[in-house]
Amino acid sequence: MSSIWGRNIKISVFGESHGPAIGVTIDGILPGIKLDMDYINKQMERRRPGKNRMSTSRNESDSVNIISGLFEGRTTGTPLCAIIKNSDKKSGDYRRTKNIFRPGHADYTGYVRYRGFNDYRGGGHFSGRLTAPIVFAGTVCRHILNQYGIKISSHIKSIKNINDKSFLQEEIDCNRMDRLINSEFPVIDQSVESGMKEIIYKAREEGDSVGGKIECIVTGISAGIGDPMFESVESVISHIMFSIPAVKGIEFGEGFMMSEKYGSECNDAIYADENGEIKLLTNRNGGINGGITNGMPILFTVAVKPTPSISKVQKSVNIETMDNEEISIKGRHDPCIVQRAIPVVESAAAIAVLDMLLEAEKIKGGMNYV
Ligand SMILES: Cc1cc2nc3c(=O)[nH]c(=O)nc-3n(C[C@H](O)[C@H](O)[C@H](O)COP(=O)(O)O)c2cc1C
Repeated sequence: MSSIWGRNIKISVFGESHGPAIGVTIDGILPGIKLDMDYINKQMERRRPGKNRMSTSRNESDSVNIISGLFEGRTTGTPLCAIIKNSDKKSGDYRRTKNIFRPGHADYTGYVRYRGFNDYRGGGHFSGRLTAPIVFAGTVCRHILNQYGIKISSHIKSIKNINDKSFLQEEIDCNRMDRLINSEFPVIDQSVESGMKEIIYKAREEGDSVGGKIECIVTGISAGIGDPMFESVESVISHIMFSIPAVKGIEFGEGFMMSEKYGSECNDAIYADENGEIKLLTNRNGGINGGITNGMPILFTVAVKPTPSISKVQKSVNIETMDNEEISIKGRHDPCIVQRAIPVVESAAAIAVLDMLLEAEKIKGGMNYV
């Protein structure tokens, strides 16, 4: 079923970009969890549009209204439903191009799939705006994971052809993770920041857009979580990552680079530490072997394509007349999606990790994460 995800934590995302509201229903959250609204609002603020020159000028407050599953500040255990109003809509921007599909967006595929009944305004259900409910759901999950010492952080690994360092090359401690989480444009090597931003500004001036990569790390996760084959940690994380619009690729650990190396360069050596615990010397496999966590941080990178809506002239078709026409998209769009997608990637990771932890605990005989 579309727009519904999960086994133990089930999320159902609803709404359209220019409808009255968007939102999410989360099923599977245990009763009694105290929700920290300041923490939730902080995460929502990280994704919110309209904050700077790198983002669309659509200005939404993205304030969350919880309408069920919360009583006196604690979860009730029944479906937790949150609504986020759409207030800054300019649907007129889309009337002109109503019948001309935007290349690279879901206008054409959505039209075919929903037999022309789809709400095309602002991309409708395919809009990047639909990632706000994912951030809410992910923040609730993240709050629970935090209590178990599981932390999630990420950074901009590249914008176009400008690269940051990788978590594989750097020591990852709590301070560094907190610095990245609190940064609007998180990079490990701050000397690359201005070059990356320049590329985004230049693309915007030229009526174009750019993409990049996000590297995400999940620390504090023990060995033995996940399943082989169809429910592998890689499968579960990839599945939810591709629900984020504009994500076009994912790799774990050294990922695609491994195909160019020798086995001796890709294996993570195993040793017993002074406490008799099994550890790995490196994390080239991204914390996963055989679909199951190996005790190292889960490490993955997603590739985000350049924003499809650009004002540069492109070829398309007018569905009403079936004429080949040219289109130049004039609405308010992000010249680069990467920096706004960061909290979304972290939130999606939180949902997937909590879902897998609950599965593991079910096998062990129950989890009380209040
Ligand atoms: C946070 C975020 C913001 C986005 N902003 C825009 C935007 O301003 N304009 C646009 O055309 N696409 C934007 N997108 C991407 C489109 O929603 C996406 O490319 C489209 O739905 C087609 O899906 P696909 O690229 O996964 O194939 C955004 C995506 C995200 C995650």
